[in-house]
Amino acid sequence: MKKMKAVIPAAGLGTRFLPATKAMPKEMLPVVDKPAIQYVVEEAVSAGIDDILVIIGRNKNAISDHFDSVPELEVRLRQKGDKGRLERVTKSSDLADIHFVRQGEPKGLGHAVLRARTHVGDSSFAVLLGDDLIDERDSLLIEMIAAHERTGAAVVALMEVDAEHIHMYGVAAVDGVHVDDGDSVKVTALVEKPNAEDAPSNLAVIGRYVLPQHIFEVLERTQPGKGGEIQLTDALQELAADPDGPGVVGVVFRGRRYDTGDRADYIKAIVQLAVDRDDLGPDLRPWLKDFAAGL
Ligand code: UTP
Repeated sequence: MKKMKAVIPAAGLGTRFLPATKAMPKEMLPVVDKPAIQYVVEEAVSAGIDDILVIIGRNKNAISDHFDSVPELEVRLRQKGDKGRLERVTKSSDLADIHFVRQGEPKGLGHAVLRARTHVGDSSFAVLLGDDLIDERDSLLIEMIAAHERTGAAVVALMEVDAEHIHMYGVAAVDGVHVDDGDSVKVTALVEKPNAEDAPSNLAVIGRYVLPQHIFEVLERTQPGKGGEIQLTDALQELAADPDGPGVVGVVFRGRRYDTGDRADYIKAIVQLAVDRDDLGPDLRPWLKDFAAGL
């Protein structure tokens, strides 16, 4: 089997984070000391992927600059003998073979994924949303790739979400029968951002997908849906409803996920990741306890 490529859509407007995202993409917001998108690239690399296409939009040059080397900075750190910082600076440019393509207008996630067609070619591929972080101690993408290799299906990551938040997600109807030995279920239908009362389950689609090449054909004919955008969920619904195809499988994720596109979740992500770090945790934990006690 050919090595899988990954696609990271990062061309959205990030309106929930305005004005911070007026001139800077939300995927570049720092989570402790790395931009969100670097965690996502590192996740793809640890799942064995070394070819990554980032879909960029307006104001997204910061993303490509981040993954380029910065010779003057490297020379300076080398002269100072600052090995630690030098390593951290060069890491982002040495991670993988990273390519960029523009999405002229943000016409939706489905439209962004379609921009990857030429680069991906005729293989299955992974999609990782650039503002959705999965803790590096959890191995979601590896499980999803394995589920795709076993079934040939489009694989989505599902997570249980409270009724009050379900309207923010694509939501899956599942038939409850495990399709194999892993924690994966058959997805019978998908609905984009339903009201809580219309949601077919509490299983929300989160930002990881492993998709067959056939999805591009479906996306080509997918009409704008919710919010006037071309929705990936609508194309996946077509695959789920096709009785002759391998359908859609959901891998239920019970690990740690941080949605950095949402302001409150972004703050929680920074705190959670920082307290676990050896360089910051020992200082931060007692301070946080005191702070919380005073609330
Ligand atoms: P979101 O709906 O979270 O992104 O899209 P958004 O529109 O940028 O955010 P808000 O709601 O206005 O704050 C999920 C992912 O899909 C990408 C986004 O960059 C994000 O990673 N996306 C979305 C695109 O690449 N292109 C689009 O046209 C839409």
